[in-house]
Amino acid sequence: MRVRAPATSANLGPGFDVFGLALREPYDVVEAVEIPEKTARIKVMEGYQVPVDPRENTGGYVVLSMIRDFDLDKGLELRIWKRIRPGSGLGSSAATAAAAAYLVNEIFDLNLGLEDLVHYASLGEVVSAGVPHLDNVAPAIYGGFTIVSSRDPLKIYGIDPPSEIAVVVALPEIEKGSTKKAREVVPKEVSISDLVHNVGKASVLAAGMALKDLEMIKAGMADVVVEPARSRAGIIPHYEELKSLGEALGAGVAVSGAGPAVIGVIEKASASKLASSFKEFYKSKGCGCEVYVTEPGPGVSKLEER
Ligand code: HSE
Repeated sequence: MRVRAPATSANLGPGFDVFGLALREPYDVVEAVEIPEKTARIKVMEGYQVPVDPRENTGGYVVLSMIRDFDLDKGLELRIWKRIRPGSGLGSSAATAAAAAYLVNEIFDLNLGLEDLVHYASLGEVVSAGVPHLDNVAPAIYGGFTIVSSRDPLKIYGIDPPSEIAVVVALPEIEKGSTKKAREVVPKEVSISDLVHNVGKASVLAAGMALKDLEMIKAGMADVVVEPARSRAGIIPHYEELKSLGEALGAGVAVSGAGPAVIGVIEKASASKLASSFKEFYKSKGCGCEVYVTEPGPGVSKLEER
């Protein structure tokens, strides 16, 4: 069985560890084949290299956990076409983890619900980020826009974003280091005024998704806590300038997850203008940059059987 596993953008500004959005592009392809041994085997067929030791691979770890928890008497070989750049802020590890949870559930007929799949996929995130944050695996499973309402007990809300949204992703050739490191610079405490700011913006963004109001979504993409802290720590170079560029073009701009990718949300008609502006911007900084013009997309889904 083969699936497509989407890139996802977490946080969207004020929704640190809460908001996530599944993107139509880029995506990984993951194929699973049953094997007689009760273990996981990993093969990278194409694209970026990721660990092939199943305990260190986000998908392999999910398969091993599910074999253990459901006492399965067989295992899976995962074949991965890794198109989402690892360490990009586009949920590369979450895509593999979500694909693995989906595939184990389908192949072994476990009949798990979406929240259970998010739970298992999140175990894979521990391998890469050190904590089971859910804001990439939730949209990777649900598709569209997701809100992680609580982790224990796990509660996710999925919302269909408006269809006229374009999402422009700028992926600069910058090494951010690990998500773990990027999490270490997140403030442990916030002032009440910053809390009020972020709750206000997050509410507007979530309401904009539900009401399908693009202007509200853009207005909500503003964070005064996590993004500025990461910018000060040098993890998000040119942060202030990127925010101003977005403002000048009428786009909502946010760091995608822990970066270095940045996303801009804008009307479809203006997407190519934003894309070329991102490219020019990074070029002016002497930095290469890949740009995707995409839109919100579905969660992990089956591709044709071979
Ligand atoms: N919410 C997480 C973070 C997402 O910002 O660290 C990581 O992709």
